[in-house]
Amino acid sequence: MYSRITGTGSYLPPRRITNHELAAQLAQSGIETSHEWIVERTGIEARHFADAGVTSSDLGLEAARRALDAAGLRPQDVDLIIVATSTPDMVFPSTAAILQQKLGVAGCPVFDVQAVCTGFIYALSVADAMIRAGNARCALVVGAEVFSHILDFKDRTTCVLFGDGAGAAVLQASEEPGILATDIHADGRHVGILCVPGHVSGGEVLGDPLLRMDGQAVFKLAVSVLEETTQTVLAKAGKTGADVDWLVPHQANIRIMISAARKLKLPMEKVIVTVAEHGNTSAASIGLALDHGVRSGQIKKGQTLLLEGVGGGFTWGSVLLKY
Ligand code: UT7
Repeated sequence: MYSRITGTGSYLPPRRITNHELAAQLAQSGIETSHEWIVERTGIEARHFADAGVTSSDLGLEAARRALDAAGLRPQDVDLIIVATSTPDMVFPSTAAILQQKLGVAGCPVFDVQAVCTGFIYALSVADAMIRAGNARCALVVGAEVFSHILDFKDRTTCVLFGDGAGAAVLQASEEPGILATDIHADGRHVGILCVPGHVSGGEVLGDPLLRMDGQAVFKLAVSVLEETTQTVLAKAGKTGADVDWLVPHQANIRIMISAARKLKLPMEKVIVTVAEHGNTSAASIGLALDHGVRSGQIKKGQTLLLEGVGGGFTWGSVLLKY
């Protein structure tokens, strides 16, 4: 028994902010940045920001509906919902439970996975394992984030990098191969290099509630762990880089994607790139890129896709699949 992706969907909140607009806004608080710096160092040209009060489950709901439509399914056909998010609607219950309510269904198991930018890879891996074990037949996997709500707009080293959005995939049990191999990892020794350190206690937020990142440390680790996990997942499936039709990477920085493609000996024409328009949407980014690749006609049925992600935790992983 395999699990197969039978539908994808995504959603971006309508408010699109270009680098020029963001730079002008930051300048009002005396923060200096430029379109040129952001493009040169990251490849980002614009990002979408959700309005205050719009939550991850709101964005996830739209992406989920589109993925279900693409699969020709209704919400009541789903028997497992996993949401990957680091910006949950509430401390608890899970954003997956809130999404289940918004989809108007009840009964199936639902939970969140918290693996920051590797969240979509973790969620796909867990859904695949549950389907192959016979514990689910139709899983809805959603990555949804409102990172704009946890950005420090006085810190130019982070606030220009992230955006909001949601990506979703429907995974169904199938006798035909879909997901070929998965590979997920974490190293908690690096908790501090990418985190939102605050927590809620005694009715207040204790500690810093905004995103903090040591960009260079993350960059260096990302490049090395991505090489390792992509080679591992290919080896698990008895494949090489030459078998990959599309690399669908986490969209954090074009330079990290170029390095990953080079190590796999893949030309950039085989890499789905959405970072210019989306920025880094954390757990949503791979789902957004996957859906973009499918709907733009780049990704076709039967092709081999290599999805890879890396992020806070430190977490990283990859999924190899036949689409
Ligand atoms: O999603 C999870 C994974 N996250 C990532 O993969 C992020 C990984 N890290 C990165 O993508 C990069 O490290 C950054 C894009 C965050 C930074 O790029 P960098 O090439 O490593 O730049 P840097 O930190 O070395 O900074 C270079 C210079 C510094 O100035 P000095 O010290 O050379 O004078 C920074 O102060 O650029 C300055 N700088 C900026 N200048 C204009 C930093 N941020 C900005 C900014 N605008 N927004």
